[in-house]
Amino acid sequence: KEAKFKNEFAILEFAKGFYHYYLNHTKDGKEALSYLKERGIDSETIDAFGIGLAPSYSDALVKTLTNNQYPLELAAQVGLLNEHNGHYYDRFKSRIMFPISDKLGHVVGFSGRVFLDGDTHLGKYVNSPESNVFQKGKLIYHLNEAKRSIRRHNRVLLFEGFLDVIAAVKAGFDESVATMGTALTEEHSRELRRLTDKIILCFDGDKAGLSAASKAIPILMAQNFSISVAEFPNNMDPDEFIKTYGSEAFSKLIDQAIPAIDYQYLSIRRQFNLDFVSHREQFKRQIYHFAYTLQSATLKELILKKLAHDISIGEQSILQEFNYSSKSQVYKNVNINNNKNENVQIHSRQ
Ligand code: UTP
Ligand code: MN
Ligand code: MN
Ligand code: MN
Ligand code: MN
Repeated sequence: KEAKFKNEFAILEFAKGFYHYYLNHTKDGKEALSYLKERGIDSETIDAFGIGLAPSYSDALVKTLTNNQYPLELAAQVGLLNEHNGHYYDRFKSRIMFPISDKLGHVVGFSGRVFLDGDTHLGKYVNSPESNVFQKGKLIYHLNEAKRSIRRHNRVLLFEGFLDVIAAVKAGFDESVATMGTALTEEHSRELRRLTDKIILCFDGDKAGLSAASKAIPILMAQNFSISVAEFPNNMDPDEFIKTYGSEAFSKLIDQAIPAIDYQYLSIRRQFNLDFVSHREQFKRQIYHFAYTLQSATLKELILKKLAHDISIGEQSILQEFNYSSKSQVYKNVNINNNKNENVQIHSRQ
């Protein structure tokens, strides 16, 4: 009996129940519920995702845990409480609580969002601190629930925010997951690759989202994912897009996702005004740089031909110049390039 109480997952599960109850059955909860309703999160979704509310006073969870004989020290270890001079305090106050589970469905932590005019000085979201159960570099939101769908549809939709996942699931896309506000890691990628080889990036349509996509693509490519990118207009994130245009429009946007290679080409091209000769030259260099990173000779050639067309230079001139600079570039990069295949090529040339 005691062992059960000392289990870190049990204490986190208990906290989830507490926050969920507090949202649904208290006067304080009303305000939070109306915020959620405003955002299109209905009671069915609240139950499905175990959404809750952390009370505004700093010993609410402390007292409840104490009354239920949970060790406060353990609660602090898993990031539910803060300790100060031997006293324990709730870490999450006045925040809408989103439980985060691991791939087996154990609650391992929370993300708490401010709502209405709540205090934002700690940031829009407060997350559980890193611990032996909560590791953002490994965690994938909604993975346990999405596993079967990912296998069945043989694809995964990857979002930046867990609220985007919640909106996408409601729109009928169960194969949706998100990282916890961190850049995609090799470990995330490997975890997803065990379930499918197709991934659609559904990152926010703002600068941060674009840059997140460019960083995620090489990591995913290294694990032979077939990658495409869904583009959200007007700086919208998927949640806002679904709210504004509906599930049908979202579904269309997913269908129109651009293959990663074309996406990368386009995102480089958009940085330049090709009316200017100097921009064309810089654009060309950037595309050469990009083409070096491609493994496939066919893709390299296709990209270079596209470049030739876009800057109105003969294909042969571009291909020749690339091949020439490619050689010197590869030699220059021997020490900084950790791509094993490229190093093998270098040795075989010598
Ligand atoms: P966003 O700022 O795009 O949040 O951050 P969002 O998902 O659209 O949330 P809403 O719609 O404003 O409520 C994307 C993700 O980055 C992490 C969270 O995991 C979030 O889901 N994040 C963001 C934090 O951890 N802390 C923050 O202060 C902000
Ligand atoms: Mn489905
Ligand atoms: Mn964002
Ligand atoms: Mn967002
Ligand atoms: Mn959002």
